[in-house]
Amino acid sequence: MNANNRLGFIHKFIPSESLEDNNSLTLLLLHGTGGNENDLVPIAKMLEIKNAAILSPRGKVLENGMPRFFRRLAEGVFDIEDLKFRTNELADFIHNASKVYTLNLNRIMAIGYSNGANIAASILLLRPEILSSAILFRPMIPLVPDTLPNLSSKHILISAGAHDPIIPRYQTEELFDLLKKVEARVSIQWQNSGHELTQRDVVAASEWVSSAFNT
Ligand code: MLT
Repeated sequence: MNANNRLGFIHKFIPSESLEDNNSLTLLLLHGTGGNENDLVPIAKMLEIKNAAILSPRGKVLENGMPRFFRRLAEGVFDIEDLKFRTNELADFIHNASKVYTLNLNRIMAIGYSNGANIAASILLLRPEILSSAILFRPMIPLVPDTLPNLSSKHILISAGAHDPIIPRYQTEELFDLLKKVEARVSIQWQNSGHELTQRDVVAASEWVSSAFNT
């Protein structure tokens, strides 16, 4: 299906192959800086998750013409007020999309890369009711909320690059530690790569999906 601008975000929606399966996952795809709603569709398809629908919004913040999901002041330095605002705006979009497209709001899995992984982590921390699980490729800690949620029902995979020149290792480790502290079922894998996604990321994500969801 082509991208459309309903519900306040340009987005792509690909329905589940089985419209009767109310229990199927929805994969929420969140691209990196300069990307768009098409970028992660091939990766989502490679995971071969049975009957999954795909909801893929384009970030609304432009940085020199490049779409992102929230404003930053410099590389790795976030505008926290904007991040909070955009997190709620995106969470509301997902909530509304779940009604319009008849998606099970208890079964939304984020698959985010870089800036998209960071806003996915922010949704988990600020609006945890929106996501049940997440695959975070190359994330860093986006913020620490004043009130910590309990994420004991959330399944999360972090796939990080051991030689990532953009995301310092300690920033990913801080996110992992915070998610552990709030009791998320989180695991982390370090790939022998930089910021770019590799085949190993896809394999790691596939294996994690099979073990977390018995698919
Ligand atoms: C961000 O701004 O979210 C991170 O620095 C990753 C990036 O988009 O470069």
